This record gives sequence, structure tokens and C-alpha cells, in this order.
Amino acid sequence: MKIDVLTLFPSMFDDFIKTSIIGRAISDNKVIINVHNIRDFSKDPHKRVDDYGFGGGQGMVLMPEPIFDAIEHFKKSDSLVIMMTPQGVLHNQKTAYELTKYNHLIIVCGHYEGFDERIRSIIDLEISIGDYVLTGGEIPSMVVIDSVVRLLDGVIKKDSHVNESFNNSLLDYPVYTKPQDFRGMKVPEVLLSGHHENIRKWREEESINRTLNRRPDLLERDD
Ligand code: ADE
Repeated sequence: MKIDVLTLFPSMFDDFIKTSIIGRAISDNKVIINVHNIRDFSKDPHKRVDDYGFGGGQGMVLMPEPIFDAIEHFKKSDSLVIMMTPQGVLHNQKTAYELTKYNHLIIVCGHYEGFDERIRSIIDLEISIGDYVLTGGEIPSMVVIDSVVRLLDGVIKKDSHVNESFNNSLLDYPVYTKPQDFRGMKVPEVLLSGHHENIRKWREEESINRTLNRRPDLLERDD
């Protein structure tokens, strides 16, 4: 997979693309992530990319031309063009899986007060990461990229996906490591028993109870 990110703040991605699982996925050639400055596509002598909104109010609005030019520069026949905005569809594990099917994602990070409405005509999918407003689309785009890249073949062990939260609409079961007794809090006996079938059953029950207690809405969802 290749991901082109269009942003006004490329340096926000510096550590993200170097660190941990995403950094390793890039060095192992599982994904190519290129971060581009929208300003480089401005034809204005001062590299302006925003202006006052018609009708007043609003503050600064991203202009359509640099965004169109940037998207048209990178877009291929198999690209999906995504805009990060609180008005988009809510991102979840299912949408993360859907996005793994594309060879090429172009992700536009909105900023300032908003973007010119005509930009929507060149966007295939608008994504929100939650019902709150952030200062820009950079962090949301990292959330989406992280959730997608970790699902790509060979990035993390297949087993890790099978039991993780949100797969099968269930939250993950509790896990423990050493020591067996930490300040009087003991690791459940069954996990020390070596009895695989009992461990499997215990984990299944814990997953179901945890989901019932914390996120009963997940059990009612049919997606
Ligand atoms: N930009 C600002 N807030 C956002 C959100 N919640 N999701 C996606 N993009 C955003």
C-alpha cells in the first residue's frame, strides 16, 4: 500500500513515520508513506493556501486550487481520496479493514476554520475519528493510518488480530505478565494451569462479560 498525506504541517508526521510498528512497516516495505506540504502546490507568490470566507464570519478557509492541484498530481486510477473532517463517517475497526483493500490512499488533512465546499467534489470519502473537534486533520489522519497499516499483511502477527478488541464485536480479554502476585493482586489460576481448553473458555467468558459491562452497544451492532 502507498499513502500520500497532504498537510500544512508535515513535521507533525516526523516521529510518527519513524517510530515503532509504523516505522518498521515502512522499513520492511509493507507500506510507503509520503507526507507533502499543501503549500508547495500554491501558485500564490507568498504560498498562501487560505483566505477569508465569503459572507464573513468563519475565519480563514482553505482554498480549492492548491488542494485540487495536489490531489490531481498524486491521483491514479486506483486511488481513494480521503478528507479528515469531523463531518465524515465515524472511523471504526470495520472501516480500517475496508481501507486495507486499496493500493493507494491520498489523505487530506483539513485545517483552520474549514475548507472551501467545492473541495468535497474531488473527495471520495470523508472520515471523522470521533464526535469532537480537533485543531486539524493531522492527528486524525495518523489514527486512521495506524489502524490500517497494522492490519496489512506481515506488519504484526496474524494471531494478534484474531482476539483483539472489536473483532467479533467483542472487547479483548484481560492479560497478565510477571509477577504472579503483585501487591496481593494475583494472576487468575486458570492462566497458570497450562490447560488450553479451560484458558480458551475463560478468555471467551471474560471477553463477553467485559463487553456486556463496558460496551453493550457492540453486541447490538450488526456490522
Ligand atoms: N478534524 C478536526 N476534528 C476532526 C475529527 N474529529 N475527525 C477527523 N478530522 C478532524
